[in-house]
Amino acid sequence: MSDEVERRAYNKDEVILSGRGVTKVFVNGKVRNTAVNHVDFDFHKGEFVTIVGESGSGKTTLSKMILGLLPITEGTIYFNGKERDIRSGHKKREYWKNIQAIFQDPFSSYNIFNKIDTVLLDCINMRGGRNLPKEKKIEMMTEACRFVNLEFKELTNKYPFELSGGQMQRLMIARIFLLKPQILLADEATSMVDASSRATILEMLLNLRNETGMTVVFITHDIGLAYYISDTVYIMEHGKFVESGPADTVILNPQAPYTKRLISDVPKIHEVWDLSSVDLELNEIKKDSAK
Ligand SMILES: Nc1ncnc2c1ncn2[C@@H]1O[C@H](COP(=O)(O)OP(=O)(O)OP(=O)(O)O)[C@@H](O)[C@H]1O
Ligand SMILES: [Mg+2]
Repeated sequence: MSDEVERRAYNKDEVILSGRGVTKVFVNGKVRNTAVNHVDFDFHKGEFVTIVGESGSGKTTLSKMILGLLPITEGTIYFNGKERDIRSGHKKREYWKNIQAIFQDPFSSYNIFNKIDTVLLDCINMRGGRNLPKEKKIEMMTEACRFVNLEFKELTNKYPFELSGGQMQRLMIARIFLLKPQILLADEATSMVDASSRATILEMLLNLRNETGMTVVFITHDIGLAYYISDTVYIMEHGKFVESGPADTVILNPQAPYTKRLISDVPKIHEVWDLSSVDLELNEIKKDSAK
């Protein structure tokens, strides 16, 4: 992983979301499981952050606390410099105007009885566009679909379940394009999409960040990918951040043993493979089958 990656500058003075000592303990009878253990973070405006860690390290639990979907056991989250207050339903809804998520399973994100235009119209209404003329709404939905390479006219009368997995993912990003939250949290779709759809989605997330100045928090197992897409990387092991900082520093010069291990697991993509033994085996097989 030695290729230079061009990074985009973000404003290091403008912290949008931060956490201090954020902790989650799940209690099941007498068993206590500390899934997230006193983590600190500062996410900036327009920053592309990646949280990397193996399965069970606490990434989703942390993202649910950030989203306000799971109560925090201990610690504090600050939004735009103030302690986050989501104690009432009203305050929670206000908070969700600023932070949105896309999940691993796009099928779980939609109400299956709503047609696609309703899904997109809801986003316009949520952003205060309820009274806009119909033509303006159609124009906005068409633009959002175009941003993710979908054709609005072909989708208007369809239901989300009539789309492919990849189209569904793109529709999720079209929603984000309309909602324009300040922060987008994306828990990576590992199994739902193939490699090319994954690349398309990543490109769209980067475009969203570049065009709107949105902060993107991307969650993945893949440290190689984190190197290519992010400004800042947080490495998570057993509920703790063992290392964090600019992607170049953390990945090209890792300090924590866990980060070093994650990097050593990445296939060496630049190495030329020695296929001579495979050729020999193939020749043997050909000889055998010719007998
Ligand atoms: N609702 C819950 N109740 C009890 N324990 C939970 C709950 N949700 C998660 N956990 C536990 O918290 C720990 C962290 O889980 P989490 O889902 O946050 O990991 P993750 O890093 O997102 O893993 P993956 O990469 O597999 O998605 C695990 O030990 C898990 O079993
Ligand atoms: Mg997870």
